[in-house]
Amino acid sequence: MELPQFSLEGKVAVVTGASRGIGEATAMLLAKVGADVVVISRDQDQLERVAHAIGEYGRRAVPIAAHLGRMDQLAPVIDRTVEELGRLDVLVNNAGTNFFAPAIDMDERGWDSIMNLDLKGLFFLSQAAARYMKDNGGGTIVNVSSLSGIDAQLNTGHYSIAKAGVIMATKVMALEWAAFGIRVNSVAPGTVDTRLLNAALEVLPADLAERTLEQMRNVTPMGRLGEPSEIADVILYLATPASSYVTGQTFAVDGGAALYAATNAVRLDV
Ligand SMILES: NC(=O)c1ccc[n+]([C@@H]2O[C@H](COP(=O)([O-])OP(=O)(O)OC[C@H]3O[C@@H](n4cnc5c(N)ncnc54)[C@H](OP(=O)(O)O)[C@@H]3O)[C@@H](O)[C@H]2O)c1
Repeated sequence: MELPQFSLEGKVAVVTGASRGIGEATAMLLAKVGADVVVISRDQDQLERVAHAIGEYGRRAVPIAAHLGRMDQLAPVIDRTVEELGRLDVLVNNAGTNFFAPAIDMDERGWDSIMNLDLKGLFFLSQAAARYMKDNGGGTIVNVSSLSGIDAQLNTGHYSIAKAGVIMATKVMALEWAAFGIRVNSVAPGTVDTRLLNAALEVLPADLAERTLEQMRNVTPMGRLGEPSEIADVILYLATPASSYVTGQTFAVDGGAALYAATNAVRLDV
């Protein structure tokens, strides 16, 4: 069965945070439906591993090591994409980071590390991509927000604030850039089994980490964590013509957790 609306044949995609987790699953999936892919993170070795796997699908892949929390490293990524692969059709802003810290203890350095990558880097990379797409037939941008950007979570308030900003950035970009043929949407994952989650849990005492994980499952009606591929599938929908009349939206991909979160905040007592 052919489903051309889900194809990216002949298109070029940039996926940030593609060295592992949701970004790696997304880069692989976009390649599987025909895209050549630029994969970005800070870890050249891991990117080369992912690029090699994409090559096995017969697609071209370009690994670019960049720190996306640094302004001077953003526009060059878009320039290199066009130089090496000839065009840019899809940008997936997936790179992100998080750590546990109560708001009462937050310092400027921690705040800046989250905001610079999770929000500022995402905005200005999108702007650089949009400046190219505007003059070259449009494109699609998919941002990775979080359920934490919809409902406040204890002890990761900085992350919630940044991810809420991603949801608003999605709306602003969609509104202004629709005229340029650019659609912008976002996914808001619930709890997904990746290093980001496990690294955050590792700093907790083992019993508290286990209880926290248990609580995360308990507030998810489907009763389990998500897999990176389950987020990638929704990103694929938003990146392709399958969603051609959708823009400015945020899709919760969370096993139903958003249904629960508003009235039952998870307590993460660090
Ligand atoms: N896992 C969850 O439960 C969950 C829930 C909601 C939302 N999310 C969001 O999903 C996205 C992907 O996270 P994940 O769960 O897949 O985590 P992950 O496995 O830790 O992946 C994070 C990715 O971001 C990259 N990255 C981190 N800092 C970077 C920087 N300064 N510059 C460039 N790349 C950087 C990492 O690569 P390097 O370390 O190689 O640079 C890695 O490829 C994030 O935006 C996260 O906030 C995750």
